Amino acid sequence: MKVLYAASEALPFAASGGLADVAGSLPAALRKKKVNCRVIMPLYGTISDELRSTMTFITSIMVPVSWRRQYCGIFEAKANGVTYYLLDNEYYFKRNMLYGHYDDGERFAFFARAVLEVLPYIDFKPDIIHCNDWQTALIPVYYSTFYAAKEGYTGIKTVFTIHNIQYQGIYGSEILGDVFGLGEEHISLVDFGGNINLMKGAIECAHKVTTVSNTYAQEILDPWFSHGLHPILKDRSSKLSGILNGIDVDGYNPETDKNIFYNYSAKDFSGKAKNKAALQELFGLPVKPDTPVISIISRLVSHKGFDLVKRILYDLVDSSDVQVIILGSGDWEYEAFFKEIAARYPDKVGLRLGFIPDMARKIYAGSDLFLMPSKSEPCGLSQMVALRYGTLPIVRETGGLKDTITDSGDGKGNGFTFKSYDAFDMLNAIQRAIAAYNDKDLRKVLVERALKCDNSWGKSAKEYISLYNSIL
Ligand code: GLC
Repeated sequence: MKVLYAASEALPFAASGGLADVAGSLPAALRKKKVNCRVIMPLYGTISDELRSTMTFITSIMVPVSWRRQYCGIFEAKANGVTYYLLDNEYYFKRNMLYGHYDDGERFAFFARAVLEVLPYIDFKPDIIHCNDWQTALIPVYYSTFYAAKEGYTGIKTVFTIHNIQYQGIYGSEILGDVFGLGEEHISLVDFGGNINLMKGAIECAHKVTTVSNTYAQEILDPWFSHGLHPILKDRSSKLSGILNGIDVDGYNPETDKNIFYNYSAKDFSGKAKNKAALQELFGLPVKPDTPVISIISRLVSHKGFDLVKRILYDLVDSSDVQVIILGSGDWEYEAFFKEIAARYPDKVGLRLGFIPDMARKIYAGSDLFLMPSKSEPCGLSQMVALRYGTLPIVRETGGLKDTITDSGDGKGNGFTFKSYDAFDMLNAIQRAIAAYNDKDLRKVLVERALKCDNSWGKSAKEYISLYNSIL
């Protein structure tokens, strides 16, 4: 079976969020199960020279973007045993941010069209094109309108995965023809409430629609989570399913990770305490082995649950013997809040603003508890990474957080959870976590259990393969 995995970001070439982790690890897991999976993505200007030196130029073609004819260079590279195709057009992709430009609609219309146009030139005719999020949503739409009956293209099936329903690719209907190259006869595919909605188009046209956890697949049928798309998803629910993400357990491995201070394993995790001491020192906090360190690694935006954190953090640090370490950047409101509390409690709160992957690993390894109180969370990867490093997650029961973390109150769980989006329910879960941590025997049991959790891709890769088979 041949699968072309189309994504707007994939490790190791470009990353702004969890999608890049998934696109950088699921294809390798599929290959282990004998699926010939390759990745196709834009060749961004931000990709380093070192990575560029691993690419070879295949050829260049011209790609239609409505009436425009745009250059598209095709490069090939190998990473982690997987073949990547990188599509080059400097006008669209040589910019300092992946997204957030006035012409994102046109940029990703180009990418979608190019993915289909390059197929005859890469010597790889996929059985499945697996698309991800709104940036690739036009691929199923273009496939069904322009390519399905074309020689060399017949019989391809498309799968569309929603990693986050909040971003749908919404544009005014006046650019239907001029930018997206679609005629009035196609408008019903992409029209949603008078606008063009690219994600809606993909839900209509793809042969299967998936999202990244079972719970989220249910949640997005509900207006509280759907950002408006629930009526469309309900209509199409027979083709919707949830498949939980895994993580790259070789990349995130406390036994071999070179970014952490001391290596350790589930068999012998004495090194974790040394990582904790080094982390406390790194953040200028007093080195106290028995004070629980709670960490947060996240984009600092509202849907990650920071309103709850703001509501209780002063009370928590005031009233308990804890240390809190925060790494992330985002909205001014939350950055300002964390700066202020870190300045007022320099012995209890450590803060670094930014997206710093090496430091993130030191924090996963050196902290005891990991807080992730998201308002909604399609899957979430950080809670699984935290477990991999023996750090116990405290999460809200939503989306993939609900599917990966169970409360240890029952004597079997791997973390601490709370249900309602309520600051005091969260505080209660944090206090239970601190109490468990303070019980040294229980702490040991829980850390060991976390280290033994298996969140590798194996099981989910199998589920994708059955999904692909069901439409071939
Ligand atoms: C998005 C979601 C996150 C998910 C990731 C990978 O970033 O917000 O929950 O883990 O995609 O699927």
